Amino acid sequence: MGREGEPWVVMKTARAPSNIAVIKYWGKRDEKLILPINSSISVTLDPEHLSATTTVAASPAFHSDRLWLNGKEVSVEGERYKNCLREMRARATDVEVESTGRVIKKEEWSSLHIHIASENNFPTAAGLASSAAGFACLVYALAQLMGVKENYEGELSAIARLGSGSACRSLLGGFVKWNMGQEADGRDSIATQLAEHSHWDDLVIIIAVVSSRQKETSSTSGMQESVRTSPLLKFRAEEVVPKRIEQMEKAIKSMDFAEFAKITCADSNQFHATCLDTSPPIFYLNDTSRRLIGLVERWNRHAGEPQVAYTFDAGPNAVMFARNKEVGAELLKRLLYQFPPSSDADFSRYVIGDQSILESTGVTSLKDIDSLSAPAELSGVVNPPRIPGEVDYLICTTAGKGAYVLDGPHLLDPVSGLLP
Ligand code: DP6
Repeated sequence: MGREGEPWVVMKTARAPSNIAVIKYWGKRDEKLILPINSSISVTLDPEHLSATTTVAASPAFHSDRLWLNGKEVSVEGERYKNCLREMRARATDVEVESTGRVIKKEEWSSLHIHIASENNFPTAAGLASSAAGFACLVYALAQLMGVKENYEGELSAIARLGSGSACRSLLGGFVKWNMGQEADGRDSIATQLAEHSHWDDLVIIIAVVSSRQKETSSTSGMQESVRTSPLLKFRAEEVVPKRIEQMEKAIKSMDFAEFAKITCADSNQFHATCLDTSPPIFYLNDTSRRLIGLVERWNRHAGEPQVAYTFDAGPNAVMFARNKEVGAELLKRLLYQFPPSSDADFSRYVIGDQSILESTGVTSLKDIDSLSAPAELSGVVNPPRIPGEVDYLICTTAGKGAYVLDGPHLLDPVSGLLP
């Protein structure tokens, strides 16, 4: 930060988590404002394992708004970025730059250009919704930089929503509801927290990242096609989801795992049924996804009550919830038994994230997997498929907190405001 008259750069860095919907958002009633045809509920994933980190900087020396995603410069000209930046600039306030005492006036923000650098802490190729974490993080970081004060609860989530619908749920931690809202301008289409992550802290989440060679239909265009052509989607939004939202809110409040699991699986399956009901049909699940569903369904039936729930977004990866740590370790053992890594895989890279679950399985090497015995529910199943390498890797995590500020390190050079 220079003296008066010298070039200066101000910056802030924030982190925002990914989230996984347990009642899915699929379909918009307004494409520009990103207003959904139904409310949705999600679980925020621990930012330690699945999050975006974003640095935003402003300086009179910048000539244009610029954006770097995972180290590569990309265009910031898309409507979604422009809408988020415009709405944040409109809400900027006078900000005192701590180190110099200089005040950036409210009016100055409309002419100051912004540099943005963002990266994910999980492999981008994994096809795990990164836009939700990314847009939530952008809006949260800009709010810190520009001194934006929310005029009403949820205002920032309504701006993140303009970047990507599911992003509005990533600002908050724990269990989050996105109210579809009624207003034409979208001001009531906001996210609210149902419960903190600490409210239900024994849930374990395991994500099976499934190899996919196929180019998937993006959520944005997939849901457009479904709205246009699927009669099942209309029925779902009007008749099924409103009841499920109520039931899911109750299940979360009372930590009723059986109910949570039943609704989560049913809603994922209905979402994929609406994809199949779309013309031409959209297939996000593949054979591996179906085998993962089989593993959970067979186990739950054998146990007599749900131990694990699964849900799939617009891709083949499974997100599974285990009712507690013990069941989480049992789930991981079953996954390792039925979906072992390929023989040349590096075991230390096969199970990533929270290592405490892996530790409680006692499995420490590829050799240990070979000596795992078949789970009871597989007895009587002749030659259950065990195809090494079918699953790319597993991420163990839990529900986590929402967006927060990081003191550093920044992703942009503090003097030049460019990638270091
Ligand atoms: C299947 O939020 O990615 O993950 O609003 O067009 O950016 P846009 O779509 P996006 O859709 C997410 C769809 C989903 C379900 C969900 O997260 O609720």
